[in-house]
Amino acid sequence: MRYSSVTGVGKSIVLIGMMGAGKSSVGRCLHRRTGLALLDIDEVVASKFGMSIPEIFAEHGEKKFREAETEALRRVRTEERAIIITGGGVVLRQENVGILRSQGVIVWLDGDEETLFTRAFQKQNRPLLQTKNPRKSFSEILGARRPLYANIADIRVDTSVLTDEEVAVAILAKLRRMNPKPASPVPAKAS
Ligand code: S3P
Repeated sequence: MRYSSVTGVGKSIVLIGMMGAGKSSVGRCLHRRTGLALLDIDEVVASKFGMSIPEIFAEHGEKKFREAETEALRRVRTEERAIIITGGGVVLRQENVGILRSQGVIVWLDGDEETLFTRAFQKQNRPLLQTKNPRKSFSEILGARRPLYANIADIRVDTSVLTDEEVAVAILAKLRRMNPKPASPVPAKAS
């Protein structure tokens, strides 16, 4: 089924949320289910630098990464509908929030803190968790960001106990509810 018939709107689906929320894998499920293009902002930034995200943080610092992240968002072609996967810190800059809002429906993948941390920490590729106490760092970052995610999201899905496919199905169901198909016209009564 194509996206337009699934959701009834001509907008992209923008995935936001904390590291470990499953944005990339859910994005791939949505891509398979809708046929929409898939755009991962972290991948755009990584290919611009020709290095991985941890390498960008290590060699150029977080500020340069954030600038490139905003630049990558600015360059998204809004006329082409897509599944847009963002990095967990995208909500930190007000400019990004404006850009994302103009790009589509914003879907926040949330979850309970312990589950998100366990998932995020499994992959040892999160520069912001390379600290003495990653669990504490995660908690602080999440505490600061939750209100930002909540503020910008059109839809929230709790991913804690769902598979990636279940999350994708839940998102599409919520989008459908937001944009129900217009009711069929009622035939005029014969007089
Ligand atoms: C970041 C999350 C990462 C990546 C970068 C910064 C963050 O993406 O953009 O390491 O600030 O939370 P994921 O959310 O895909 O891990």
